[in-house]
Amino acid sequence: MAARKVTEPKKPATKKTPNKKSATQAQVAQPKTAPAIRKATEPLKIGLFVGREWSWPPAFLEEVNRRDEGVIAEYMKVGGSRMNEAVNYRVIVDRISHEVPYYRSFLKNAALQGVKVVNDPFMWTSDDKFFGASVVDRLGVVSPKTVVLPNKDYVPGIVPTESLRNLTYPIDWDGLVEYVGGFPLVLKDAHGGGWKEVYICHSMEELWHHYNHCGLLTMIIQEFIKWDNYARCMCLGQEEIHVMKYDPSQRKYHAEHDFSPALYDRLVKDSLTIVDAFGYDMNTAEFAIRDGIPYAIDFMNPAPDMDVNSLGKVHFDWMVAHMADMTIKLAKSKKATRDRYYWGKLAKETEK
Ligand SMILES: Nc1ncnc2c1ncn2[C@@H]1O[C@H](COP(=O)(O)OP(=O)(O)O)[C@@H](O)[C@H]1O
Ligand SMILES: [Mg+2]
Repeated sequence: MAARKVTEPKKPATKKTPNKKSATQAQVAQPKTAPAIRKATEPLKIGLFVGREWSWPPAFLEEVNRRDEGVIAEYMKVGGSRMNEAVNYRVIVDRISHEVPYYRSFLKNAALQGVKVVNDPFMWTSDDKFFGASVVDRLGVVSPKTVVLPNKDYVPGIVPTESLRNLTYPIDWDGLVEYVGGFPLVLKDAHGGGWKEVYICHSMEELWHHYNHCGLLTMIIQEFIKWDNYARCMCLGQEEIHVMKYDPSQRKYHAEHDFSPALYDRLVKDSLTIVDAFGYDMNTAEFAIRDGIPYAIDFMNPAPDMDVNSLGKVHFDWMVAHMADMTIKLAKSKKATRDRYYWGKLAKETEK
């Protein structure tokens, strides 16, 4: 039998007809037009959220306002926020949303409206010391070896035999401790800050003792770096790095540093890598230096210490002047926190 030649019926050319969807469908598909973020009125505004700190905020506001650049800075006031409400600020500097969660929600909405939020509330929400160590390690910054541990305790309602079936038990303590180089090691809160829940452990007994008291926290153990020098770098706008010598035992900065030019360059380069990766515009990156190699210890500090008493006058003045430079520059730019996110691109489309 001769093979039958099967010819595909020609598809009718798809005609671009006007949308014949039902009214309801059309309503669903129609993107909501976002409110205008701000009219092109001057002056541009920088808003400030602060906690108890007293020295830096007024100095910063005064510095911005006295420059007469068409940009003004002021404390913000909020109290109950409507969805998609317009935010009449070009830049917001956030120093406290880690302790006032309502501010964090407000700032996420502000980011959606096109505001440049310093620091990015989305990154801040998701940063932790274990993820951070893995990221920087990938990017060529030297990190102490780090392990994240299963939690010690759980919220009520967790039934270990049913709720924790994905956990292996017991924990391979010997193997994990060996990975970080044995004792001493550092046990610390993966989400911590301000030296809370940081323990140097010299034995398994000490490690277990502190771990057993860590409750609901997610803890990491980390290789202890016996440093011979220590640096803290203030990183502004993902481009400016102010390298400082720091004394962790006193929690004080030195006015001068004694780093070799090669080490200095390395600290700048590593700090830039870090802020580029995490998108922080106001951050300190802390490095323990051993045999000339900087180990990134604590590099996600989105509300870095700016107190005149710990910084000293020289660094404090630098911080005030350069925070003013950066925020004025950002206010005049088109930069927006949402530019880093897919939802941000979609939101921007609705404003065209
Ligand atoms: N891996 C480490 N090796 C040596 N010292 C460390 C290490 N991790 C932390 N430290 C010391 O503990 C201090 C507090 O730890 P850090 O990670 O900065 O916690 P926090 O975020 O609470 O400031 C550091 O400034 C450093 O002096
Ligand atoms: Mg620290």
